[in-house]
Amino acid sequence: MKISAHAVGRMVGAWQEGPGPAHRRLSDRLRLLILDGRLCLGAALPGERDLAGAIGTSRTTVGAAYRTLVEHGYLETRERARATVRLPHEDAPAGRRRAGGADAETINLSFAAPPAPPEVLHAAFATALERLPLHFERHGYDRYGAGELREAVAGWYGRRGLATSPGQVMITSGAQHAIGLLARTLLSPRDKVLFDHPTYPHAIRAFTDARARLLPVAVGPSGWDVPQLLAGARSAQLAYLIPDFHNPTGLYMSAEARRSLRPACPVIIDETLADLRLDGDAGREAEPFAAHHPSTISIGSVSKSIWGGLRIGWIRAEPALLERVARTRPATDLGTPVVEQLAAAALLDAGQTRRPEALRQLRAQQDVLLEALAEHLPEVHAPRAPGGVTLWARFPEPVGSRLAAIAPDHGVTIAAGPQFGIGGAFERHVRLPYTLPAARLTEAVRRLASAHRALTAGATGTHVPAAVA
Ligand SMILES: Cc1ncc(COP(=O)(O)O)c(C=O)c1O
Repeated sequence: MKISAHAVGRMVGAWQEGPGPAHRRLSDRLRLLILDGRLCLGAALPGERDLAGAIGTSRTTVGAAYRTLVEHGYLETRERARATVRLPHEDAPAGRRRAGGADAETINLSFAAPPAPPEVLHAAFATALERLPLHFERHGYDRYGAGELREAVAGWYGRRGLATSPGQVMITSGAQHAIGLLARTLLSPRDKVLFDHPTYPHAIRAFTDARARLLPVAVGPSGWDVPQLLAGARSAQLAYLIPDFHNPTGLYMSAEARRSLRPACPVIIDETLADLRLDGDAGREAEPFAAHHPSTISIGSVSKSIWGGLRIGWIRAEPALLERVARTRPATDLGTPVVEQLAAAALLDAGQTRRPEALRQLRAQQDVLLEALAEHLPEVHAPRAPGGVTLWARFPEPVGSRLAAIAPDHGVTIAAGPQFGIGGAFERHVRLPYTLPAARLTEAVRRLASAHRALTAGATGTHVPAAVA
């Protein structure tokens, strides 16, 4: 795939900022885009002259930057052909080992997902196995999901103040599956999708895979900009919003904003984190978005409130829309595994998605993460989130991608801000989850501080970004 000089120019953004010679800054920026997957493998970069023109520099600077990337294994050149993106062989670059030779295992802060609650799951699967024989006479392929779970999900909405019938529910294999199914059902190439910026990275991926155009609207420290969203929705074919403990910021949309936000296009509301209120202020609970706007397509999941390994999520929408999704679905899957559905039904029926003890523990871990940041990285600004599983931490300088590329050398992986946006935005941010035990979180922040010190001293990292969830 050929990438135009203007597209690369947009991606490199403010590459001129920072210390060191211009060609180093440019090759560093291109290398991070490659490691991040924003410049994908095999992509053909623009010629030196074109890129130099697009980013306002000399051809010599671009040539030197390209040569550095070739030397380090990130570009391949052939006579009279564009340079193409590649990755160095596993054994090539230095820096894949931990600095200082320490042998402790790497701490994964790229995944924002709690560990499983073993006893709770065990009991749910015992119930599921008791109920399973009732399904044996059926074929087991069900595009809408098991009746027990559709009822249990309808009950979950009912308890949150949104009357729902099982006919309005389709079970999916996680919320990401729901996003992918909806993107494929609702979008045509070049349609515009409006979304919070930053947002959940795999949603962006699902929309770009559907060849949609992306229309980001900023979510600031104080929340959603309703007039901007309304204006954007007028030219969009679909909106995707996360009003309940937004990933990555943890923000919660006020009841007033929910009421006044009447987008002119269909809207997907992602409630994956809706059960994770941590500020103890149940009185501030707003009604689900769909209670104000009946045509809303809501999606949910038990991945964050119970365990991602269950791979159970759902879509709540008008039956006519679910029928369209059901027609799209067989192209990729023929239904969700029955035993997991029965276990999820038992969990939802027993109210296990809001376990006070689990929420108290998450809140305590959030405290520990904030304290560790204050001690080891005091220059980082990380507002306390009212819920969810992550902090959206801001460094004074644009170091997000470089920090993510060097952090594994110091024993920790993190997700850099630009993974949550488009066009190279959020380079000052990293997302930090508080789903690990307290001692691991403190140690992770210590390691991150060590990575940050190394970066400030001029070191660079070569790690490909870890998978994010
Ligand atoms: C906002 C949001 N939506 C969807 C997902 C995907 O959830 P699932 O594991 O149910 O596919 C996540 C997971 O992190 C998420 O944070």
